[in-house]
Amino acid sequence: MKQKASFLCSECGYESAKWYGKCPSCGAWNSMEEFREAKQAAPRGTLAKSDRRPNRPLAIGAIETQEELRFHTGISELDRVLGGGAVKGSFVLVGGEPGIGKSTLLLQMCQEMCRQAKVLYVSGEESLRQIRLRADRLHISSPQLFVLAETDLDEIIEESDLLEPDVLIVDSIQTVYKADLNSAPGNTTQIKECAMTLMQYAKRRGVTIFIVGHVNKEGTLAGPKILEHMVDCVLYFEGEKQISFRCLRAAKNRFGSTNEIGVFEMSDCGLIEVPNPSAAMLSGHPADASGNCIACTIEGSRPILAEIQALVTKTAYGTPRRMAAGVDYNRMVLLLAILEKRVGLYLSASDTYINVVGGMRLDEPAIDLPVALAVASSYRDQPLPEGVMAFGEVGLTGELRAVTAAAQRIHEAIRLGFTTCIMPKQDIGRMAVPDSFRIVQTGNIAQAIGAAFGAKQ
Ligand code: TYD
Ligand code: MG
Repeated sequence: MKQKASFLCSECGYESAKWYGKCPSCGAWNSMEEFREAKQAAPRGTLAKSDRRPNRPLAIGAIETQEELRFHTGISELDRVLGGGAVKGSFVLVGGEPGIGKSTLLLQMCQEMCRQAKVLYVSGEESLRQIRLRADRLHISSPQLFVLAETDLDEIIEESDLLEPDVLIVDSIQTVYKADLNSAPGNTTQIKECAMTLMQYAKRRGVTIFIVGHVNKEGTLAGPKILEHMVDCVLYFEGEKQISFRCLRAAKNRFGSTNEIGVFEMSDCGLIEVPNPSAAMLSGHPADASGNCIACTIEGSRPILAEIQALVTKTAYGTPRRMAAGVDYNRMVLLLAILEKRVGLYLSASDTYINVVGGMRLDEPAIDLPVALAVASSYRDQPLPEGVMAFGEVGLTGELRAVTAAAQRIHEAIRLGFTTCIMPKQDIGRMAVPDSFRIVQTGNIAQAIGAAFGAKQ
């Protein structure tokens, strides 16, 4: 018989019968915690054979596949990330750093959802009065919205059974606990057991459950990784607290595509959707300053234009300084080396700083060319002509390499009124481009720089 696991790694969820100082699976130190299963949890496999539902293999064609019923959240950015609304009976995890706006987003979502469904919002973090004040601030009121301040999971389930809501929101999984486990809330055992109970509840009752999960300082969800395996959909709410833009990303979605993003802005009265992120990112773009270039990056299925800025100055002391915000540091260093060797820019005697405006993080190879153009522009102290944008991967020999979704990027540039696109030599299919829009395809970085500065105004 398999020995029952009694220790669980709080980082990766590795189970073991023995305690280790270092987790054999993920290598984390001091992360093994004792795990006790709930006392009254029905042991698996004890149901008499006659009590079980017959569970027989089915021919795949014989399985019924009616369209899933979805609740629209009234927030189109959120609906898109969920794959067209929240599926009935699904289990969704919303993760993010404290203070990023998870509770605000979920409460705002209730306003529209309450028109189609009964919603129970359970908070383990705020009092009823605090929730009411927040709801007033967000102008949310609905007779279909019920609020409960409770942390005991069994009580929550009992209340939910009485109320029979269609949507249950638990804010947050780290604050709820099961009384029959003798470990503190937020503990790995508690998180695992509570999530398991909620998942079974969601599937059994057909209730859509949203849970909030805090992210620790490394940026991963606090609690075991198994939480992510258990849920149907994992959404991450990200952004810099000082900057008002927030990004909602789907890291996993059993009912839609992943890597979709939703963009929001935090305001005095809650989160506002940003349906046109490119325009928002480009607002305040200086027209004739040297050292900036517009890049087009693909986030999920959407192209987003972002401004990359570079500042190249003479090094005051021996070693040159390099700093990158929003782009990968090593990638930047590599691009500087390519510019020095292949284009002849004498950058080893210059400090170089790169920044992506708006706090966006771009980690796609297609931003190589705009980064290089921004650096060249600052180095020459010559602004790029107005209306120029670029995308393309740069190889070590200075060649420009093809990127994905080129046509989509060009469409976005046209939509936002750009007039020139500098890009690699690649097939863009048949697309309608207005006469005023120039597509310049070049083979290497030196030609691209020549073409960019020579582009007509
Ligand atoms: P919150 O949703 O509580 O974050 P989380 O649940 O992720 O911890 O709130 C995020 C921050 O947003 C909070 O510091 C206050 C601010 N905020 C606004 O700026 N405007 C608003 O309308 C609301 C409700 C909050
Ligand atoms: Mg909160």
